[in-house]
Amino acid sequence: MVEKYEYGSPVNTQAVVEEIPLQSGEPSFGRILPGEGFGYICPLEKQDVVYGLGENVRGLNKRGWIYTHYNKDDPAHTEGKHGLYAAHNFLLISGRRHIGLFFDYPGEISFDVGASREKELSVSAPQADIVLYLIEEASDREVVKTFRRLIGKSYIPPKWGLGFQQSRWGYRTAQDVREVVKKHKEAGVPLDIVCLDIDYMDGCRDFTVSSERFPDFPAFVQEMREQGVRLLPIIDAGIKAQEGWEVYEEGRKKGYFCRKKNGEEYIFGVWPGKSVLVDVFDQEAAKWFGEQYGFLISQGIEGCWNDMNEPAMFWSLDAVKELWEKVPPEEYAKEEKLTSSFARLQSGIQRFQDNPADHDRFVHHYEGRTYTHRQLHNLYGYFMMKAAREGFEKGMPGKTPLLYSRSSYIGMHRLSGVWTGDNCSWWSHLLLNIQMMPALNMCGFLYAGADIGGFGDDCTQDLMLRWLSFGIFVPLMRNHCHLDYKPQEFYQFEKKEEYRELIRLRYRLIPFLYREMISAAENNDVLFAPLSFDFPEDEMARSVDDQLLLGDSLMLAPIYVQNAPGRYVYLPEDMLFVKCLDSTHFETETMKKGIVYIKAKEHQAFFFVRKGQEKKIGEVFTELSIGS
Ligand code: GLC
Repeated sequence: MVEKYEYGSPVNTQAVVEEIPLQSGEPSFGRILPGEGFGYICPLEKQDVVYGLGENVRGLNKRGWIYTHYNKDDPAHTEGKHGLYAAHNFLLISGRRHIGLFFDYPGEISFDVGASREKELSVSAPQADIVLYLIEEASDREVVKTFRRLIGKSYIPPKWGLGFQQSRWGYRTAQDVREVVKKHKEAGVPLDIVCLDIDYMDGCRDFTVSSERFPDFPAFVQEMREQGVRLLPIIDAGIKAQEGWEVYEEGRKKGYFCRKKNGEEYIFGVWPGKSVLVDVFDQEAAKWFGEQYGFLISQGIEGCWNDMNEPAMFWSLDAVKELWEKVPPEEYAKEEKLTSSFARLQSGIQRFQDNPADHDRFVHHYEGRTYTHRQLHNLYGYFMMKAAREGFEKGMPGKTPLLYSRSSYIGMHRLSGVWTGDNCSWWSHLLLNIQMMPALNMCGFLYAGADIGGFGDDCTQDLMLRWLSFGIFVPLMRNHCHLDYKPQEFYQFEKKEEYRELIRLRYRLIPFLYREMISAAENNDVLFAPLSFDFPEDEMARSVDDQLLLGDSLMLAPIYVQNAPGRYVYLPEDMLFVKCLDSTHFETETMKKGIVYIKAKEHQAFFFVRKGQEKKIGEVFTELSIGS
């Protein structure tokens, strides 16, 4: 059952693809609050679990916290945060009833999931221009399937997208990349992709390659292909505002960059320095932007990762000027005023980055209307990807590009994948990765993953191995790291062979994972599910927050605590425990329903085969001789 309600004059976000007749009156579950802006409230029963919200902080069960979606470039994914880079406004209330709620709205929106009032879910937004979809089905899985039917089929990457990806911000030259590939080859560590970060560009300008650091780029792309490796370059949202540079000049001449209400170009700062933003909501501008990706295709590239597309802004020219006016240099030069003017300067500068006030300063043109950026903010990453995907389709007809994005909105799941941004080399972020996967899947993002080993901070060997032990099951498997932190390629660690065996295991899993992913996409299903999806009557299964079902045949229970020799696992049915000693040797044990303590060394990936599913897994790992 689906109900659709419209309030105010909603933006066509292009999240939903199915036509649903509009309903009037109050929704059959919860109610709309009177007053300014948008407000929705519904009861939560004691035993209800609330899933969803896609990419966000905290556990599988979202109860007990306030989440706010206003896409942000924030590398501190700590518990105290309320949102990350994406706006996935879908919730699933699982209890006696199974209710799905989707708030289709591209501006800032908040979800108080029983935090202020234990027995209430309340949703609020500053404007009442929202489409609300209410779904009720007989089970959690059915709610998700109905929702996914509404939003359309998920993106399936080319199969090589499931290969192992090695990345680091700081592979500065072709020679650096050659070294990485060579070391993997020599040690027999499978590798499909090396990601190129902003280092490959000429002065951080999109659609350029530094001819000094990457001389004859097309030949280099080809050389890597011959080694079985594809290069995957980054593209950022900000375009360098540099006079004389053809991409900027052409976009400016044609009026494709975002402007302020007074018609001036909106200037802000990001990696290239002074930058502008393409109005990706305007069809012509988007088409032009998409065509720029043709430059990469002409070099032999078959995909890319879109970054800084929340869009991230370090500062805006207007905000800088205003601060300078408030605290003019003549003033802070006066010694007796130094302390107070310094404090004012400092607090002003701290407010520069990603300030929503800046988002009111410039506009977009969409479907014959003018909107401030703030109104459409959460859609920017999606529409940038839409332009990119169309560009790739034009330049590489008949071939699916490998695409993933940092920022997203529901709808983008039809076009590309997502990676979950700048996490850290923390054990808690391994857990966060585990807990985010089902929520991302519910919102359509099947091709998803986190930076394995963590992006920020130094990764230790044990964390890397434990993370890989989970990562081998995750469709987007990439080791990526920040340039200021300890490099974390396999050869930086002592246990190189253990690392290699995990990657080899991954490659044995690829055919299975790819099939499972395609079947999830075709059936509008998830790849990763909370235990309660298949064991809804089992109280214990409903409370487990750190184990996942993978397809219909596996259960995962990763170890995410440092120095832990093992962990407690809840088995909702009898299962076969499989411990991978390396990529060809396994230990198995049949285990009875209930709580068990399992042990596994850091490099020993393990999984549980569900009852009756031995055959499927027996075909993946013939050494197990099961199910035949
Ligand atoms: C952003 C991205 C990160 C990338 C960096 C430099 O922080 O999230 O993955 O390495 O920018 O481009």
